[in-house]
Amino acid sequence: MAYNITWTAEFETGIAIIDDQHKHIFDYLNEIDRAIACKSVEEIERVIKAIIDYSISHNTFEESLMEKAGYPLLEAHHQVHERFKERAHAYGARFEKGEDPIRLAREVRGDIGLWLTNHIKRDDKHYVSDVKRSLEGGFVARMLAKFF
Ligand SMILES: [Fe+2]
Repeated sequence: MAYNITWTAEFETGIAIIDDQHKHIFDYLNEIDRAIACKSVEEIERVIKAIIDYSISHNTFEESLMEKAGYPLLEAHHQVHERFKERAHAYGARFEKGEDPIRLAREVRGDIGLWLTNHIKRDDKHYVSDVKRSLEGGFVARMLAKFF
């Protein structure tokens, strides 16, 4: 039985664009639950593919913010994202090979769900102060350039 996925303050980074994307990941996890409950293989395949693609591009987006911020632990965070990518693609390959989609969807929901929520709750917190400072700095700089 998959644990319930509910967005709570412990997942917040305080960076609006990141929190929006993380919430989107939570929506996908809940969509997987619904697809499993309906036993809709078509829907399972659609949403599993969507969460894999979305999470990987979200991770790349995070890295671009870390890079702009000059975040010193970018490489380590990038490596963590790379391990996620391998894991997610391995699930994708198992779907392609024709494994029982409902059983596999339960496994993805448990494993990928736990990975993502833990990552959001813990690892992503480390870049927050640097990225926040850089985003705010960027905004002030743009405003100054505009008015002076
Ligand atoms: Fe991350």
